[in-house]
Amino acid sequence: MNWLQTKNSLPQAISLFAGAGIGDKGFESAGFRFCLHNEIEADRAALIVTNFPNSCVIQGDILEREREILSTVPNLLGQEELFAAIATPPCQGMSQNGLGTLLKNVRQGLRPELDPRNRLILPALRIAAALRPKWVIFENVSRMSNTVIQDETGGLAPILDLIPEYLGNDYIGEAKVVEFADYGVPQRRQRLIAIYSRLPEARQILQAGGSLIPPPTHDQSGRCGLPRWITVKDAIGNFPFLDGKTAATARDPRLFLHHVPVLDSKKYEWIRHTPENESAFNNQCINPKCGFDQNPTHGSSRDCSGINRANRDTPLYCIKCGALLPRPYTREKNGQLRIMRGYTSAYKRMSWNQPAPTLTKNLSFPCSDRKIHPSQNRVLSLAEACKLHTISDFDYKWGPIATGERQFKQAPDSLVRDAIGESIPPRFMYLLGQHLLAISTGKAVARRTQAVQLELFAL
Ligand SMILES: C[S@@+](CC[C@H](N)C(=O)[O-])C[C@H]1O[C@@H](n2cnc3c(N)ncnc32)[C@H](O)[C@@H]1O
Repeated sequence: MNWLQTKNSLPQAISLFAGAGIGDKGFESAGFRFCLHNEIEADRAALIVTNFPNSCVIQGDILEREREILSTVPNLLGQEELFAAIATPPCQGMSQNGLGTLLKNVRQGLRPELDPRNRLILPALRIAAALRPKWVIFENVSRMSNTVIQDETGGLAPILDLIPEYLGNDYIGEAKVVEFADYGVPQRRQRLIAIYSRLPEARQILQAGGSLIPPPTHDQSGRCGLPRWITVKDAIGNFPFLDGKTAATARDPRLFLHHVPVLDSKKYEWIRHTPENESAFNNQCINPKCGFDQNPTHGSSRDCSGINRANRDTPLYCIKCGALLPRPYTREKNGQLRIMRGYTSAYKRMSWNQPAPTLTKNLSFPCSDRKIHPSQNRVLSLAEACKLHTISDFDYKWGPIATGERQFKQAPDSLVRDAIGESIPPRFMYLLGQHLLAISTGKAVARRTQAVQLELFAL
């Protein structure tokens, strides 16, 4: 029996801003038990209940439920210490502005607009500081490192400075942007991971130049003997064929969640003529008598305020024969067609030979950033999204769920999409959980040595 386990229990964790508990599923699989989750959205909380039947799920605003969380956790733990507190606050409010610009504006007396949603990290910090888990883990978008918030004294502070301030001197930690493709996730997705611990073993690792973040298991070009990034082809190349043209071809009832929205005929045509890794905005002439393939492609340029905008003069008609190109367009009030305003990555196909681009809540919308299947005329199915997000490698259930009086056999597609788009791929959380266990049991020294060697090799 693992020294961390008592007879009946595994080391325990809590999850704040838990979403639908997708990342937590990976962490659990590394050998943990979640005793408490907090999430504001009822339908996501219902998925947590389904997937973590032994956890106390507190549904509601963390600001209103903070006291309840603080009084409940010690009762749930009994004599045990809390192993980990995981907090993944929402990222919508994280500023695009550089930290330097913000602080400069403040010094010049200009009041910056601070998004109150970023302050949600404060209750999480108070909870972590009061419960004193062995490990505290924050996950957020990379720009969290540039985010300044108003602290409880009314002063302005970079979020990352507040973490050690709240946790106190006996915690030590690090924050780093990780690329999940480096961890065997067939998807490019970068997130900031901040990990703090009060264990002497963690301090030793950091003092010896090691990392609390697990060493990568994959590499873009296969350096250091690591396998290369997992591609879309590796992950979903064998999924049954679907076509977004009709309701009958847009689903395969044999495979759970393997269905896609039916495309309207215009979009279907634009997509049908789009090659792999290309955007429909670059489609060339399909007039069989012309076939000109040198029509200018869609690009972007900086406007006078320095903002990168998609060009508006991209041709919609073939410059050689004048035929309508199969490019995304809209109809003006006067009946004329014009090229649709959109980013150059809109209506773009993925590449088979790379990991998928970041899966967002918009993963079923072809007009969103690189959402089209590499070779079939459709977006990704939710089954494929689950595979590319590594959810289907874990025992995650999409139902049944109960919200209020209502029972559903399975989560609606919109909930699945939202939950995937906002979540941490469970494979990374699984590796992280294993790494933290290894450090806590003193087994991470060998791993650290290996990681350092790998870094030296990379140089
Ligand atoms: C980034 S998502 C978490 C994803 C999760 N870690 C996963 O892997 O599935 C952030 C979550 O915080 C929730 N949230 C936002 N504001 C909240 C609040 N005031 N109290 C509690 N939860 C909140 C959102 O509904 C969302 O599900």
